[in-house]
Amino acid sequence: MPATAGEGRRPWWRTAVVYEVYLRSFADSDGNGLGDVNGLRGRLAHLVDLGVDAVWITPWYPSPMADGGYDVSDYRDIDPRVGTLADVDALLAEAHAAGLRVVIDLVANHTSAEHPWFAAAVAGGPGAPERARYFFRDGRAGGAEPPNDWISAFGGRAWTRVTEPDGRPGQWYLHLFAPEQPDLDWDDVTVQEEFDDILRFWLDRGVDGIRVDAAPAMAKLPGLPDAGHRPGALFESSAWVDNPHWDVDEVHEIFRRWRRIGDTYDGDRLFVSEAVVNGPERLSRYVRPDELHTTFNFDYLKAPWDAGSIRAVIEGTLAALAPVGAPATWVLSSHDETRHVTRFGRVSSGAATMGFDASAPADLELGLRRARAAALLTLALPGGAYLYQGEELGLPEVEDLPEEVLQDPTWERSGRTARGRDGCRVPLPWSGDRPPFGFSADGVQPWLPQPESWRGLTVAAQREDPSSTLSLYRDALRLRRSLHGLADDAPLTWHELGPDIVAFDRGPAFRCVVNMSARPLPLAGLGRPVLRSGDDGDALPPDTAAWLVTGYS
Ligand code: GLC
Repeated sequence: MPATAGEGRRPWWRTAVVYEVYLRSFADSDGNGLGDVNGLRGRLAHLVDLGVDAVWITPWYPSPMADGGYDVSDYRDIDPRVGTLADVDALLAEAHAAGLRVVIDLVANHTSAEHPWFAAAVAGGPGAPERARYFFRDGRAGGAEPPNDWISAFGGRAWTRVTEPDGRPGQWYLHLFAPEQPDLDWDDVTVQEEFDDILRFWLDRGVDGIRVDAAPAMAKLPGLPDAGHRPGALFESSAWVDNPHWDVDEVHEIFRRWRRIGDTYDGDRLFVSEAVVNGPERLSRYVRPDELHTTFNFDYLKAPWDAGSIRAVIEGTLAALAPVGAPATWVLSSHDETRHVTRFGRVSSGAATMGFDASAPADLELGLRRARAAALLTLALPGGAYLYQGEELGLPEVEDLPEEVLQDPTWERSGRTARGRDGCRVPLPWSGDRPPFGFSADGVQPWLPQPESWRGLTVAAQREDPSSTLSLYRDALRLRRSLHGLADDAPLTWHELGPDIVAFDRGPAFRCVVNMSARPLPLAGLGRPVLRSGDDGDALPPDTAAWLVTGYS
């Protein structure tokens, strides 16, 4: 890797801006309508031009795609629809040569139901040693009812009954996600050792980091007691206390084990967890000095557009992470959440539980104004940030996908009441004035249809326009590397400008001001604006933000 600013003084991941590549929607190089590794290789220049430090790539392993690749049938290979191991080696070399680090996604809570381990477990019958790698249990009520009341993140119960090799209905197996994603039992030594080896496989190949999927799910309370979920309960893990299938304390043993492996490698390899848990203190446990390095901060993502709430989340996050010495990460969108242009355009602007969104109407003009301001806020906060592909283009959620194209398991599992997450996964528009907008070759139908209205939002349409959202992100990322206070990751000090204003200083001369009030905020005396998300003028309009320099920089 080429040296980057600050290397040697602090690991890259403490301040990195990481760009999430949802691979099947990024760029399609071979005309099958699905994004792929070579499509990403061909578009690395966009990421370099944007100015991010790293990419996180969603799962690329062989998969039946029951959950967009989060159902893995072979952890040491690449799905032929998205590439080969040789393509991945080339990607790693090219990304590194371009100064970009590469983080991959590891799904270790569950395998695919088509993983050879699960096939052997089903075929082995009750009591077979292969069943010990998963959670097979007899049902209650003589076998007819599931073993307990646990629920799936995608709706419905978390258990499915198998047909035994003799043809009779038999045991049940646990899946906290879709039935095609059986949960592994991490108390089983063969599971632990297999994943040690999988980690080494990818770290040896040269990946710079690993995103730990569904981290809080990976340990279960012994005996699998009822959780007390009421009928129809939603999977609201950020509200659960002492839940037997989520954020169970024993989960941390797994991450200590992984950290010991990661620490045997050079180059500041990163573990980042996906962990939606109850509050910042619980979250901080995942990033204790001998566990993972960073974790996504979902409280920030879920906060409504309201200065008091946002300030409280920032304060709570920084206060909880300080004792464990981990940096914060800030994230506004992902492949699991309603795009924030749309979310911020709703009356209730906080994020809803995974895919279960009431889809209240959104004012997209308002949403975009706020999203641009939120970008400046996010990129001004201490620590690292995660950007989701397409947010640099100001893409809204696609809310009118025809029902027949919906693929997220949430749609069927919720009895077709929750449309799920496909609306944030629509393939990126790169160029041209009609679908597929350069995502695939002309004439190819991408795996989800793109709206015609995206013609003004393509990368090509925004690249040369200094007022575009793409230009705003590019300018912000450039300044983030050069401005004192941001570049040196100085701590934050609040600057009081009123209840509906989020304002803070970092270092001797940097200030960020976000106006969440309904009135313009006079800028006189606050500093010299160096970047603004809205119009120029003497005042900061509602729902806009500014970066200012307050002294000599
Ligand atoms: C994580 C992923 C999500 C997936 C789930 C199950 O939440 O981000 O997309 O459905 O894990 O693996």
